[in-house]
Order: sequence, then structure tokens, then C-alpha cells
Amino acid sequence: MSAPTQMKALFSAEGKTAKVQDTSVPKPTEEEILIKNEAVTLNPTDWKHMRLMAEPGLILGCDFAGTVVETSKTHNTVNKGDKVAGFVHGGKYADRGSFAEYLKTDARLVVTVPQDVEVERAASVGVGGYTAAQALFQRLGLNLPSQTATELPQISPESPQVLIWSGSTSVGQWAIQLGRAAGYHVITTASPKNHAILKKMGAAEVYDYRDESVPEKISKGHPRLNAALDCISENGTQSLAARSLGSKGGKVVVLLKPEKEAMELRKEVEIIHTLAYTCLGKPFSYGRAEFKEEQVHADRDFIIKFANGNQGIFYHLLKNKLITGNRIKVFGQGKLDGILEGLDQLEKGQVSGEKLAFTL
Ligand SMILES: NC(=O)c1ccc[n+]([C@@H]2O[C@H](COP(=O)([O-])OP(=O)(O)OC[C@H]3O[C@@H](n4cnc5c(N)ncnc54)[C@H](OP(=O)(O)O)[C@@H]3O)[C@@H](O)[C@H]2O)c1
Repeated sequence: MSAPTQMKALFSAEGKTAKVQDTSVPKPTEEEILIKNEAVTLNPTDWKHMRLMAEPGLILGCDFAGTVVETSKTHNTVNKGDKVAGFVHGGKYADRGSFAEYLKTDARLVVTVPQDVEVERAASVGVGGYTAAQALFQRLGLNLPSQTATELPQISPESPQVLIWSGSTSVGQWAIQLGRAAGYHVITTASPKNHAILKKMGAAEVYDYRDESVPEKISKGHPRLNAALDCISENGTQSLAARSLGSKGGKVVVLLKPEKEAMELRKEVEIIHTLAYTCLGKPFSYGRAEFKEEQVHADRDFIIKFANGNQGIFYHLLKNKLITGNRIKVFGQGKLDGILEGLDQLEKGQVSGEKLAFTL
């Protein structure tokens, strides 16, 4: 299979919207591969870039799964014809985004898709999976999942504990599964209708986040709990996660800007912000924040432990069915402008406990 020179992609457009346009197929650098895209999954960041952040003329979309059509000159992590998944920084570049027929990315930053994993489910590893891995294992410093075990580790009352606040989010579902695979007793919160699903994914305990007494219940019941990931991180959830930690406090990783109230709540609790785009290895600006080469290279080198074709932790866990990724709902296929319908549902908060996927 060789690539054509022209393709279609969904670009950010005037009026905070998006439209499909013809454009050149991206030209990979020596470190990059070219992928023929087959499936994408949608993230809140996609509509946020379209509505709030991207100027017109940039390719939208982050998550992807597809087939390698050109390999890298410098990194032999994958071969032509391999199915791979991952994510790129959509809404930031004119030649890099996943809502497109072809895309390019660093050869070390993709996960080979095991044979019996569907492309739609594989695509969900992108923003959701990489964010969960970065938050839990780099920022919180949890023990990594085994890369040789073919069964999940036993969990006992002595197992280390982690709190995933709002586990039915995309990031939360990945975090529950990764935490469980790493041997943690996973405590999480969600709407009651999602409790059974999250237990099946590996959560040991699930609480309703609407019950105001939950932070104190978790804190009192788990005095040594010292690590949390807040998968919502706005409108006060950072404080709820901070209150849930045990008596000695610890760290709460947040996905949006740290909230002042949460930072001032408990002196023994540290609030740490994480941003998945930093693992893509390219310096960039985000609002007023600048992410320089030193940080993005360190974050890229860390996430390669999880990606790296079929040599990383994600491949091992997916192949051995120790993790399965997000619950998927395929909402559309075909012409790329069909993606707008899914972005609208996400923006309106109509998606609960599942990941919207679109096949090309
Ligand atoms: N920093 C980063 O790198 C990064 C990466 C990924 C995402 N994010 C951000 O993280 C947020 C979540 O993204 P996502 O894609 O994981 O989410 P998502 O899948 O779109 O989240 C949907 C879920 O949010 C839950 N929810 C809604 N309001 C809630 C509240 N007040 N408290 C607790 N749970 C609530 C709902 O749970 P129930 O249905 O169970 O009620 C629903 O299932 C977004 O703001 C996104 O932009 C940041």
C-alpha cells in the first residue's frame, strides 16, 4: 500500500466551527511514520480546540488507529502493514491531526494493536490511555504494571491504594484498569448506573460522587490513601479528591488548571497538573504556558515505556487482555464531517461511561 499525495481532513474554520478540506498527505520526518487512518475516538479537547482554542486552518482530532504505510528511517518500532494506535496534538498544526485520512507521528509513540483488538477500541488508547499512564506512573510515581505477567496480580488488604475520582470518564476507565494491572486497590467514584461497569474494569470500591459525604467516607476508611487522580478537575472536584486522601495527605494529579481552593485546602496535599500533549516530544505553548524541550523530551521518554510498538506496556496488557480500554460506541462512519455530530454530543455533556468512535 502506498500513500496518495492528496487527502481529506477536518480543519478548524472561521466561526469556531470545522469543515472538510482537501490537503496534502503529511510528510513524515525521519523519526516519524505515516499512517492510513481507520478509526478515531473523540475527546473533550477536540471540541474545546474547535470552539475555543484553534485558529482557522488547523487539522482537528487526536486519537487514531490505522495501518502503517511508511516506516521511520531512524526507529524500527513498527513495520509497513502493522496496525497501530496513539494520539497527536489535534487543533495545533496544519499538517498534523487525526480527523484526516492520513497522519504522521513519532514511530516510538504508537502502540501496536494486538490481532484481536478492534481498531475503534484501540483508538481509545490515545488521549485517555496516555493521560492515565502519565498521571499515575510518571506524576504520582506508582509502581509500573508488569510487562511479563499474563494474569492480573492478587489484591489484598495490604495492597497499595489509589483513588480515581470520576472513574467513568475516558481517562478514568483507563486509569482504573492500569491501576488494577499494577496491583493497586482502586477506589473510584461515578454515577450509580456506571458502578457495575467500573467494578468489572478493576475497581475495588465505587462511590457516588453526588453523595456529599463520600470524601470523608473514603478518607476515614483508607487512612493510608496518599495518591489520587482527579479525572474531572473543575467546579470543585479537586477539593473533593484532596479531602478523600488519608490523614497524612499525599498527591492529587489534576487534568485542568489547579484550583486555588484545592491548593489551599490541606497543607499535606500537593496538587499536580498534568497535560498529555507534553509526552509527544515537541515544545509547544498552551494558553500562557510554555512547554520547553527539556520537559517534553523527558515526558516522551517516559511514555515510550507504554508505547514503542509491540515492546511497550500497553501492547503487553492489551494482548493478554489484562486491560481492554474504553467502552466504545461507534456513532458514525464515512465522510469526516460526520464527526461533528459526536463533538456536539460531547460538548453538550450527553456522553456517559462510553467513548464515541468514528470509522473512516
Ligand atoms: N490534562 C490532560 O492531558 C487531559 C487529558 C484528557 C482529558 N482532559 C480533560 O479531562 C476532562 C475529562 O475528559 P474525559 O475525556 O476523560 O471525560 P469524558 O469521558 O468526556 O467524561 C464523561 C464522564 O464525566 C463524568 N462527570 C461529569 N461531570 C462530573 C462531575 N461533576 N463529577 C464527576 N464526574 C463527572 C460522567 O460520569 P457519570 O456518567 O458516571 O456521571 C461522564 O461519564 C475534560 O475536561 C478533558 O478536557 C485533560
